[in-house]
Amino acid sequence: MTPTLADMRRDYIRDGLSEAQAPSEPFSLFEQWFAEAVKTEQLPVEPNTMTLATVDDDGRPHCRVLLLKGLDARGFTFFSNYDSAKGQQLAAKPYAAMTFFWPTLERQVRIEGRVERVAPAESDAYFQVRPLGSRLGAWASPQSRVISGRAELEAMLAETEQRFLDQAPHCPSHWGGYRLLPERIEFWQGRASRLHDRLNYRLQDSVWLRERLAP
Ligand SMILES: Cc1cc2nc3c(=O)[nH]c(=O)nc-3n(C[C@H](O)[C@H](O)[C@H](O)COP(=O)(O)O)c2cc1C
Repeated sequence: MTPTLADMRRDYIRDGLSEAQAPSEPFSLFEQWFAEAVKTEQLPVEPNTMTLATVDDDGRPHCRVLLLKGLDARGFTFFSNYDSAKGQQLAAKPYAAMTFFWPTLERQVRIEGRVERVAPAESDAYFQVRPLGSRLGAWASPQSRVISGRAELEAMLAETEQRFLDQAPHCPSHWGGYRLLPERIEFWQGRASRLHDRLNYRLQDSVWLRERLAP
C-alpha cells in the first residue's frame, strides 16, 4: 500500500557535524562533502545537481534544477542561457540561493549570495568541452520562450546544424556562466529525531563567521 504523505518518515542516523570537525571557512568543508557525495551518492543523481532560486521583479521566487560546473575561492559556477527566465531575473536582481541535497549522506548545503557573469573567455572555454549536441542546442533553443511545439524546436535545431555544417560552433553571446559569490553557506547533517546539526557560515567584513542554528 502506498503510504500517505503524513506517514512518510525516515530517521537520519548516519552521521553528525560538530564544531570540532568544521573548519573556520566553508570552502574546504564543501569540497570534503562534495568529494564524499561523489563517492557515495548513487547514479542517476549527479552529485553536482542543485536547485537554484532567483527572484523576479515582483519579488516572487522561482527555482529550478541546474548543474554546478565549477568551484574555486571566488564562488560556485553554473552555465545557462542569459536570455532565459533565470537570466532575466539575475540581470534585474543579481542574487540567488543554491541548494544541494545528498540523500544517501543525509546532507543538505545551502548557499546564498550575489551572482555575476563569468568572463566571456571562461564561458567559451567551458562551451568548447561540451558535446557537440549540447553546443548546437545552446544555439538552437531560445530557453524559457513559449514555442509552438516540438516541431519548432527540431526545425530550429536543423537550421543550426546547417549553419555549423562547416565550422565548429563557438559560444553564443546569449549563453555562458554565472558565478554565485557566497555570503552564507549552511551545512546540514541529518540526525536522529529531527535534532539535526546545522552549521552556518556567514561572511562579515570579508571574514567567515561560524554559528550553529537550531534544527
Ligand atoms: C538534472 C537537471 C540538470 C539541469 N541542468 C541545467 C543547467 O546546467 N543549465 C540550465 O540552463 N538548465 C539546466 N536544467 C534545466 C533547468 O532546470 C531549467 O528548465 C532551465 O534552465 C530553464 O529555467 P528558467 O526558465 O527558470 O530560466 C537542468 C534540469 C535538470 C532536471
